[in-house]
Amino acid sequence: MIGQAINRVDGISKVTGAAQYAYERDDFGRAAVGFMLAAGIAKGRITRIDTGAAERAPAVLLVLTHANVARQGPRNGSSPEGFGRAWPVLESDRITFFGQPVALVVAETFEEARAAAGLIEVSYATERGAFDLASHADRAYAPRTANVGLATDSTLGDLERAMAEAPVTIDHTYTTPAHFAQPMEPQACLAHWIGDNLHIRAALQIIGGARLALARTLRIAPERVHVDARFVGGGFGSKLRIHEEAVFAALAARELRRPVKVAQTRRQVFTTVGRRPETIQRVRLAASRDGRLMGIGHDVNMQGTERELFVEQTATIMRSLYAAPNRLTRHRVTNLDVGFGEAVRAPGEAPGLLAVESAVDQLAHELGLDPVELRIRNEPEQDPEKNVPFNGRRMVECYREGARRFGWSARSAVPASRREGDELIGLGMAAAIRMHFQGATRAVVRMERDGSVIVRSDMTDIGTGTYTILGQVAAEALSVPYRMVTVELARTGLPPSPGSGGSWGAANSSNAVHRACEALKAKVFGTAHVAGATTAGLVDEIARRFPEGVEGEGSLVGMADDPNYKNYSQHTYGASFAEVAVSVTTGEVRLRRMVGVFAAGRIINPKTAHSQLIGGMIWGVSSALHEGAHVDPRYGNVVNGDLAEYLVPVHADIPSIEGVFLDDFDDKANPLGMKGVGELGVCGTGAAIANAVFNATGVRVFDFPITSEKLLSGLPGNV
Ligand code: MOS
Repeated sequence: MIGQAINRVDGISKVTGAAQYAYERDDFGRAAVGFMLAAGIAKGRITRIDTGAAERAPAVLLVLTHANVARQGPRNGSSPEGFGRAWPVLESDRITFFGQPVALVVAETFEEARAAAGLIEVSYATERGAFDLASHADRAYAPRTANVGLATDSTLGDLERAMAEAPVTIDHTYTTPAHFAQPMEPQACLAHWIGDNLHIRAALQIIGGARLALARTLRIAPERVHVDARFVGGGFGSKLRIHEEAVFAALAARELRRPVKVAQTRRQVFTTVGRRPETIQRVRLAASRDGRLMGIGHDVNMQGTERELFVEQTATIMRSLYAAPNRLTRHRVTNLDVGFGEAVRAPGEAPGLLAVESAVDQLAHELGLDPVELRIRNEPEQDPEKNVPFNGRRMVECYREGARRFGWSARSAVPASRREGDELIGLGMAAAIRMHFQGATRAVVRMERDGSVIVRSDMTDIGTGTYTILGQVAAEALSVPYRMVTVELARTGLPPSPGSGGSWGAANSSNAVHRACEALKAKVFGTAHVAGATTAGLVDEIARRFPEGVEGEGSLVGMADDPNYKNYSQHTYGASFAEVAVSVTTGEVRLRRMVGVFAAGRIINPKTAHSQLIGGMIWGVSSALHEGAHVDPRYGNVVNGDLAEYLVPVHADIPSIEGVFLDDFDDKANPLGMKGVGELGVCGTGAAIANAVFNATGVRVFDFPITSEKLLSGLPGNV
């Protein structure tokens, strides 16, 4: 079963609407509906909030503001406990970002709640805010660590000296805007109390974190919080933790003693959920004439907020990408009065590689060296900062296989030298690399006497295919037909996992399930006979000796406890290639085709993995050409905070996309030899497109996304 491109087991239920998402569920009877009212200023205080008219409006059941909300656990925006931290709402009269919820109105219907929210009168004492990174960049400070505990800085040798002595140097500054994860299903929660127990149906990536966060916020024991996120419509980091809607639903349901549901509107997902921070990135490269890197530097300054410290690990991937004796990476944060930062798909690599891989392309250009050849010359033999070998680093194979499939040899090294009518054609490429995480995970597998199998874990399926692949892993390990396996996920009470995030979900849970199957077989046959076990043998044995069925439990340790994480530098790898056409008249960039070749260990299901891969690649296109928050410098609001104006690629923007996995098995990763794929496709893809634009036009755009107006003045035939 492993390696089969089978269809998603939940596919039909999703396209027919039978799969119910949190906001659609009615497990507890008819729910009241909450609507969050957002602040109309970015910084200041509420001086007066008049809820009288809202309270008298038809069908209104409850209005919550900072004046009457129940006491909650304190916010600790810098706690390393991450996704399990308290997330209090309506903490005070203080406003720290535009769109911060200032009230919740609960009514019988959504329309009544929303209409009543419009009757609330709020007066503010507005303070002057700082909204743009560039004009406040001098306020930058060094955070204690970057995200997931990664070091803030790293230094080896003397970069300044390498820059002074090298015959060829690059010193460029790139900027990337804030990005938003916008899953099709917005953040939503249905809450109901039964006695002292809170039951929620929510859109979440991690079950255990949500339970802890709600318990800490509501000041109850974690065991009293029961979470179910059976179907989730996308996450991309935005559902790693609960947000305001879940806390509001729980508070209101407790107050009203009836079920309450709250969803964020699409516009609220642009404010009440975190953003990928805006960055200013300086990349320095020092090279010999034959293209050996003598020094590399990556300095990142990103927006932060006082409320929440999120330091995207933007510079960390530079630590493992290329060999060079002199090295410097630094993360700095500039607190602004904007929405808070959070993980957005491929946190770190996505914006970091846009800058780094653009700079490396520029170096190749200045050296007169092929970009693939330059990268191969600087391929490290081991991790240059950790001094341990890489796990399964097949980067050079990805470069070569990608170049072959793409037809890289047709590229002209001279920018703006290929013209077809009104269009300039260019080819570009970039490296892809992404950290491979591992978290402590458990799973239980049970076989009944009739041979049916149930897999259980609190792992989530956020649309990626977890239900499908865990069934494949169990069917393979137990040699039973796939249709005999049922997978139960995403509920408290099931064996704990770190859920879906950071591309860790599939590898963590598949290995735990695999081990649970091994444990089950060992119970039935004794360890000695496991290897020779057959389906018939297993079912016969169970029917004969275990009439009540048999269970096996399996687990995977977290990376802190896994010697492979000390002894190897764990990543996935790849290379992206792109061809673009740029109109000399309008400056419009059209992607023509794209090829990515990746090494991500063993692939359980080529169909679901491929979807992840090309989804990531399309996100990479987006980061190069489309996406970015426009923040009003006067008011601090996101001007384009909806899906009409926050541009992402549509089908017509993606004419041809080929995402390929090398046949791989990473024996340093885990027993199944697999790694994550959800974020790898994003990595490097944006830079490949930026580099193709440079090859097409000779114009290097330093400010992402690359839009027409930034290119136009540099194009031949335009002044
Ligand atoms: Mo991911 S951005 O860690 O869900």
